[in-house]
Amino acid sequence: MRIQVMMGGALLALCVVSAGCDEQLSDLTGPTPSLEPTFSSIQRDIFNTTDASGRTACTQCHSDAGGRTPTGGLNLREGVAYANLVGVATRGKPGTIRVVAGDPESSYLIHKLEGRADIAGVRMPRGNGPFLTPGQMLVIKRWIELGARNN
Ligand code: HEC
Repeated sequence: MRIQVMMGGALLALCVVSAGCDEQLSDLTGPTPSLEPTFSSIQRDIFNTTDASGRTACTQCHSDAGGRTPTGGLNLREGVAYANLVGVATRGKPGTIRVVAGDPESSYLIHKLEGRADIAGVRMPRGNGPFLTPGQMLVIKRWIELGARNN
């Protein structure tokens, strides 16, 4: 017990003075190592891109490219995605908002991506996964916490 406590302290000290923990920080975002809590980064690495884990690009369904109708009335194509999300009423679950700036818990997008019990329809991306990793979810929540800016 005592030895474990001491080892914990030593590891923490090592983290502070070495590059070892930087590696752990980039591990957090897993299959999208350059993901940051900005809208442009989320657009690029999450909405537009099927990542290394095999998690599908959202725009495969949520886009009007090629004259399609975006599923769920949600267009996540670059240039229009922000105006489809922040402060916009959810179609599938009346009374909720897709992204509430500053409040990830109230943002329906988060409930859909985590597959919470209160959602209408299914967890996103639609299918049997892979879904977003906990690290990717943290970054998206952080973007919302920071005010969900169009940055
Ligand atoms: C294979 C197709 C497909 C993919 C890929 C997909 N979606 Fe969806 N999405 C749907 C369909 C169909 C609906 C409507 C039915 C439902 O809500 O389950 C929907 C609904 C939603 C809604 C609710 C919209 C509303 O107003 O009711 C959100 C939010 C959402 N998707 C986010 C995402 C995100 C973010 C991604 C990427 C991580 C994603 N989806 C990937 C098919 C898809």
